[in-house]
Amino acid sequence: MKAVVQDAYGSPDALEVREIGRPAVADDDVLIRVRAASVHPDVWHVVSGRPYVLRLMGNGLTRPKNRIPGTDMAGQVESIGKGVTRFRPGDEVFGETVRGLQWRNGGAFAEYVSVPQSALALKPGNVTFEQAASVPTSGLIVLQNLPEGRVRAGQSVLVNGAAGGVGAIAVQLAKAYGASVTGVDHEAKLDMVRALGADRVIDYTREDFTRKAERYDLIFDVPGNHSFADCRRVLNPDGMYVLIGHDHFGGVGSRMLGSLPHFFRLMALSPFRKQLPKPSASTPGKQELMTVLQGHLAAGTITPIVDRTFALDEVPQAIRYLAGGTARGKVVVGIP
Ligand SMILES: NC(=O)c1ccc[n+]([C@@H]2O[C@H](COP(=O)([O-])OP(=O)(O)OC[C@H]3O[C@@H](n4cnc5c(N)ncnc54)[C@H](OP(=O)(O)O)[C@@H]3O)[C@@H](O)[C@H]2O)c1
Repeated sequence: MKAVVQDAYGSPDALEVREIGRPAVADDDVLIRVRAASVHPDVWHVVSGRPYVLRLMGNGLTRPKNRIPGTDMAGQVESIGKGVTRFRPGDEVFGETVRGLQWRNGGAFAEYVSVPQSALALKPGNVTFEQAASVPTSGLIVLQNLPEGRVRAGQSVLVNGAAGGVGAIAVQLAKAYGASVTGVDHEAKLDMVRALGADRVIDYTREDFTRKAERYDLIFDVPGNHSFADCRRVLNPDGMYVLIGHDHFGGVGSRMLGSLPHFFRLMALSPFRKQLPKPSASTPGKQELMTVLQGHLAAGTITPIVDRTFALDEVPQAIRYLAGGTARGKVVVGIP
C-alpha cells in the first residue's frame, strides 16, 4: 500500500510517500481502506517531535515507533479480526486510530490502517468521508470537556479559538445545548463562526474579551492566551473555565514540556477554585463518545467544515497550511 512515512523527528517536509506492506490486523481490529484522513495540531507535534516530552510518552525516544503519522480517518471496512462484532466488510466508518494519547502516530495517512473496533463508529450517510475524517480528535476533546450537562439552556458560553478544529465543534455543541454563544477568533474567520451559529463574535486582534463588560457561565479556551485570573474576571460566580490548550506549533511553551506546566498548575489549583473542573474518574470511553459524535453528525447538530483537501503526497503541504493559520475549517487528506 501507499503510506506517508516518517523516519525521524523533524520538518514535515521530510515525510515521503512509500510503498509498504499493509498493517497487521489484531483480533479486535478492523482493517480500513482509508478514503480521507485529517490534520490537526497534534500531528504537527508528533512529526516534529516537540515538545520533547512526547517522545517519552510512548511515541518513540529517538524516532517514531509507528512510522506512519495521522490519527483521524474515515473509510470502508476491508476485513475484520476474529473478535470483531460491531462491523462487517463494506461498512463505512470513521474514528481515531490511536489508543490512548493523541501524541503518537496512528497510521492514518495511508491507504489502509488497522484500528481497534472500540475507536470506530459507522459514518452517517449525510456526511462525506472528508467531513467524517475531520471530526474524531477534535470532537472527542470537545465531548470530554463540554459534556451534556456542563452547560444549560439559556447560559452564556464563550469559545476562544472558535474557528479552529476544536472551537468550531464547541460552538455548534454549545448551541445544541441551548446556550448563547460568543465566538472569539481572527477577523478573517468570523463570518464562518457566525455561520456555525455563534450569537456574537469578537475579533481577537482588536479586542480582549477579558477586558469587556460581558460575563459568561463557561469559557471554553482553546488558545489559552489569557491567564486563569484574567478569564475569571469575566466569569459569573458559578461559571467554569475549561482550558484545551494550544502550543501554536511550537510558538509558545517550552521545548521540553510545551504548555503542560500551565495545565498542571490549573489542576493543582482546581480543588481550591470552584470555577475549574475537578479531575473525574468516570469519564466515558472512546466507543461511547464516538457514538455520541455519530449521533450529532447524523442529526446535523455538528456540521464539519472542510477548508481544503490535499492528496496523500501533499501531506507536508497540508501540515504547513494548517500551521500557517489561514485555514477556515479542517484540513483534510483525500485518498481516492
Ligand atoms: N486538552 C486536551 O485534552 C487536548 C487534547 C488533544 C489536543 N489538544 C490541543 O487542542 C488544540 C486543538 O486546536 P484546534 O485543532 O482547534 O487548532 P486550530 O485548528 O489551529 O485552531 C485554533 C484557532 O484558535 C485561533 N487563535 C489563535 N490565537 C488566538 C487568540 N489569541 N485568540 C483567539 N483565537 C486564537 C486560531 O486562529 P489563528 O489562525 O489566527 O491563529 C485558530 O482559528 C491543539 O493545540 C491540541 O494540541 C488538547
